[in-house]
Amino acid sequence: MFIDYLSLKSKIMCGIVGYIGFRDAWPIVIKGLKRLEYRGYDSAGIAIINHEGFNVYKKVGKVSYLEAHAENQDTSGYIAIGHTRWATHGIPSDLNSHPHASNDNRLHIIHNGIIENYSTLKEELINRGHKFKSETDTEVLIHLVEEIQNIEQTDLLEAVRLALNTVIGAYAIVILDRENPGQLIAARKGSPLVIGVGEGEYFIASDATPIIEYTKNVIYLKDNEIALVKRDGLLVKRLDNVIQTPLIQELEMKLESLEKGGFEHFMLKEIFEQPRSIKDCMRGRIIPEIGKVELGGVKEYADKLKNVERIIIIACGTSWHAGLAGEYLIEEYGRVSVEVEYASEFRYRNPIISENDIVIAISQSGETADTMAAIEIAKERGATILGICNVVGASIPRITHAGVYTHAGPEIGVASTKAFTAQVTVLTLLALYIAQQKGTITSSKLTRLLTELETIPEKVQTLLADNDLIKSIASKIKNASNCLFLGRGSGFPVALEGALKLKEISYIHAEGYPAAEMKHGPIALIDEAMPVVFIATKNSSYDKVISNIQEVKARKGIVIAIVTQGDTKVREMADYCIEIPDADEAFLPLLATIPLQLLAYHIAVMRGCNVDQPRNLAKSVTVE
Ligand code: G6P
Repeated sequence: MFIDYLSLKSKIMCGIVGYIGFRDAWPIVIKGLKRLEYRGYDSAGIAIINHEGFNVYKKVGKVSYLEAHAENQDTSGYIAIGHTRWATHGIPSDLNSHPHASNDNRLHIIHNGIIENYSTLKEELINRGHKFKSETDTEVLIHLVEEIQNIEQTDLLEAVRLALNTVIGAYAIVILDRENPGQLIAARKGSPLVIGVGEGEYFIASDATPIIEYTKNVIYLKDNEIALVKRDGLLVKRLDNVIQTPLIQELEMKLESLEKGGFEHFMLKEIFEQPRSIKDCMRGRIIPEIGKVELGGVKEYADKLKNVERIIIIACGTSWHAGLAGEYLIEEYGRVSVEVEYASEFRYRNPIISENDIVIAISQSGETADTMAAIEIAKERGATILGICNVVGASIPRITHAGVYTHAGPEIGVASTKAFTAQVTVLTLLALYIAQQKGTITSSKLTRLLTELETIPEKVQTLLADNDLIKSIASKIKNASNCLFLGRGSGFPVALEGALKLKEISYIHAEGYPAAEMKHGPIALIDEAMPVVFIATKNSSYDKVISNIQEVKARKGIVIAIVTQGDTKVREMADYCIEIPDADEAFLPLLATIPLQLLAYHIAVMRGCNVDQPRNLAKSVTVE
């Protein structure tokens, strides 16, 4: 369930893993870092202690480079900390890679977050004789801990507590003391941190994915908490020194959901998971016998939804596209005015929001900094905030008043696929829920739409059977430098999402446009080298889209059309057609997006791109 407000600030990305116990720490930390690469993959590093001593390995680039770099070296040890970085302060380099060390090289730290007052602290520390090797704020933090420990002559836990009371910013940290191999110290404020509780061992990570195969028992460290982790027990305190009793929770995640399961890439696996993920998303939310939608997560706000006059959707990236599809659905069925805003714009332009408004924040990760900041602004102005989120227990579900989980399961591929269709599924249900509360839909129409919605997973399954056809189309356009995606009505968000998928993973420049806008600019780009993907299904704008196709063909563009099964008209004009099953216009985004995901995927593979981890991108953008 979405729970109440918890103040969180924006922070930088990166993934962190720590282990203390009796097993070989290296493979645990390496595997964990690979799971966290969605948080960044600019560089990686591990510090590890064994009986003879201590080793640190760092490498710019992906975790696999670090693994190769340390291949014939001593990686033994039962206590280790590791980090995968998404660079903001300081270029990606071996030197700027974490872990960072104290001046005397005794303490080592991994950090996800940002120390805002690091430059003042750095100056003071330099005056006191500290020498810095990197450009990072993290190195300043560990030097500060060392300095405080020396001045106050305290134990490490107390020194870290005092240091964290001095810094301004956000962090999840783990600190290792090479002279004290029996403990790790972890703390968080604003960046996530989970501690896995085993028997005689503990795992620490940015999320539960590095932990799941060893233990299901976890503690989600809270903001302003610091933990002393030893093999045989753990002590949690608040930064104000009050001892806490941590709550051990059981993870519901399944290990299989984190593995590729025979697919070449996570993205392909996730595309093929969509019949299941859409079904999971609807489960328990449709009561077909009585033609009703049940959304337990927003039940408390049913009256508010019934009477609301304006809904504002805030999101970023693919989630924003889902929001746009949601706008069409909510306006059509719920008859409420909807505005869809980029969270990054909304947060900086003094938006007009009142307590009568409902703001819906959509986020796969539940950690996107811009979306979180936009939520805080809307909340300050008294709006009711509902969330649509995939990651259970993430930050956004904690700061919204209520919400609906998408239940798509972990999405590992950086380019979002199954999370998008799950978001659109929730928005479809929400639109029908609002319509049901307001009486803006007849019960026979509601029953018909809900019955059809339940058949969508099967339709998606049949669409996936076109994989080979789509692959062959991909081979024809894989060398393009530019590509246009055009659609009208609910085909427009699909066009935007198709273009985003292609540019994200294949690095082909792609634009999504409302088809009718083509004549106001993009038409100038069309020549025999320009592929134009049309969403040309049989819906209310079919004939108009046909005219747009003719305009492209008249200029020798290459037309790839997504058409309704059995279509003949478009087939005569288009160079390539991909059929989708006949369905109500409401379900177009759920169906037409699937072939575009596959098209982008195959083109990217053919161009030799890293599909799951495209350059410069990260799955969870916790920096503004
Ligand atoms: C990043 C990801 C996108 C995602 C966007 C918003 O750019 O690469 O796939 O759509 O962030 O993320 P969210 O987790 O808030 O949906």
